[in-house]
Amino acid sequence: MGLGWINVEEYDFNCLLLMERFQIQMMFSRNDEEFKRNIGIALNANPAVKWYLTRRCPERASVIEEISANAPDAKAQDEIRQAEVRILAGAEDWVLYTTPEKMDASCDWIHKWDKSQLFELADFSGKTVLDVGSGSGRLAFAAAEIAQEVYASEPVGTLREYLRGKIKHEGITNMRVVDGLVTELPFSDSMFDIVMSGHVVGDFWDEEIAELTRVCKSGGWLLDCPGYDADYDEGEEKAEDDELVKRGWEALSYDRYRKQIFK
Ligand SMILES: C[S@@+](CC[C@H](N)C(=O)[O-])C[C@H]1O[C@@H](n2cnc3c(N)ncnc32)[C@H](O)[C@@H]1O
Repeated sequence: MGLGWINVEEYDFNCLLLMERFQIQMMFSRNDEEFKRNIGIALNANPAVKWYLTRRCPERASVIEEISANAPDAKAQDEIRQAEVRILAGAEDWVLYTTPEKMDASCDWIHKWDKSQLFELADFSGKTVLDVGSGSGRLAFAAAEIAQEVYASEPVGTLREYLRGKIKHEGITNMRVVDGLVTELPFSDSMFDIVMSGHVVGDFWDEEIAELTRVCKSGGWLLDCPGYDADYDEGEEKAEDDELVKRGWEALSYDRYRKQIFK
């Protein structure tokens, strides 16, 4: 089942031409036959996309060539389009990020969210703040209203451009945008009073939290603030096996978490 954020049928398969190297790496780490069949059909029908993926991510070139060589021969346009749509649906979040202007409108966690949920987690006044995996900047723009300085790190180029455009358009002077993965942040140790994110950690818990902790000052805060979710239960007790709770984070209502760092 898709995420339900966008109708991927409205997207051209060429949107894969906007994928980043780390996204191509992840996409071609999958080892399921259905994915291989569909991407093979779609790439053979879109040789420019195949060319781009193999050049942009040379470490996956041989896998891509092998999938392409083993794909069934599909000639009918509807069969090709069906394979393309299945690939786009399986990468719905990355497809959405190729049209950042749609994020704020399509994603409930952004447009139904109230920024007071962030401000309750820590005192932002006068602080130096990092928003990791900033996306369209939900958390970063809110923090910039109060904090001294906000850095938005974002590994997807289309989203970085969107953030920079919005900063310029709104005349914001205390926010900077940089590239960076949560496991490899381009900052020195102990730079930030607050290191926050939403919908970013969870693929590699140990490495991600170690990196968030590295860039946070002693006495500073790590925050996880996912925004609106129709399914959360405000009073819900967090399970003891919850990954962040296990790692000593405090769980708050609206699925929020925080941890004060001491070094
Ligand atoms: C669902 S969006 C959430 C955006 C924003 N944090 C928010 O809550 O509104 C996930 C974001 O994480 C970014 N992202 C994905 N993988 C990442 C990684 N390994 N390191 C840092 N950011 C990542 C995506 O590019 C995207 O901007």
